Amino acid sequence: MKKMLKNYFMLAAALTMVMAMLCGCSNDATTNVDNGNDITTNVDDGNDTATNVNDSDDIATNVGNNFGTFTTVTDGKLIMATNAYFPPYEYYEGDAIVGIDAEVAQAIADKLGLELEIQDMEFGSIITAVQTGKVDMGLAGMTVTEERLQNVDFTTSYATGIQSIIVPEGSEITSVDDLAGHIIGVQLSTTGDIYATDEFGADYVEQYNKGADAVLALTQGKLDAVIIDNQPALSFVAANEGLIILDTEYAIEDYAACISKNNTDLMNAVNTALEELIADGTIQEILDKYITAE
Ligand code: ARG
Repeated sequence: MKKMLKNYFMLAAALTMVMAMLCGCSNDATTNVDNGNDITTNVDDGNDTATNVNDSDDIATNVGNNFGTFTTVTDGKLIMATNAYFPPYEYYEGDAIVGIDAEVAQAIADKLGLELEIQDMEFGSIITAVQTGKVDMGLAGMTVTEERLQNVDFTTSYATGIQSIIVPEGSEITSVDDLAGHIIGVQLSTTGDIYATDEFGADYVEQYNKGADAVLALTQGKLDAVIIDNQPALSFVAANEGLIILDTEYAIEDYAACISKNNTDLMNAVNTALEELIADGTIQEILDKYITAE
């Protein structure tokens, strides 16, 4: 009898375990309470689930068009990073950031069914913001360079830029060849900065956060020249007395939007949208609105 009783208990215990395993009830709860890590994992998983739910909204939005499925940082939004001191590509009109890039991005967002959000930051922070997934793309009159291509991908180019040289009227600098040994102002981290520093040495290059500040310093006689993209150069020269743009092209460049190397689906979608906008003349219309042929 003693033995039978023991067997009975063993059977009962075994049955309880099987039941518990099958219904996954109280024992599991105990496990989670005991194991803080599991709980943390579950909290994280909850976020993942939320992200996935959002992602599936994107997918739903894009059913039936050419843009495939893609994810953005915030569901339903296209977040663009720029540096809004670069007219006519981006500049402030009151509180609003307007210009060629703002309109190009709006046209892309419209095609993708997304709401455009523009974040203004230092030019040198844009690539990091894209790389680290804080924004969806950078659009900032940004030149495609080999070095940047190591960190981000670029879309099809939508515009051309030329590095120009601004000098005071009557300057002894009349061409690129005269620049050596002079103090050159640039916007920090731009191609103008990179070329000038490479070619003339950091001692001869003054970096400014905004192109306009470099131009201001030029008008105050603190600099001998400013190297900057031709379109902002034209607008800064128009806004300041006594400056001219030299008739030499320091470098000819392609502008494009940059997107994370980890988001090829978004890259494909943006590229498809952009290529459609190039093909139907929308991009040219935007450029013509801001750039008057000389
Ligand atoms: N094209 C130059 C570059 O890519 C200058 C761009 C500056 N853009 C701006 N939004 N501040 O380096």
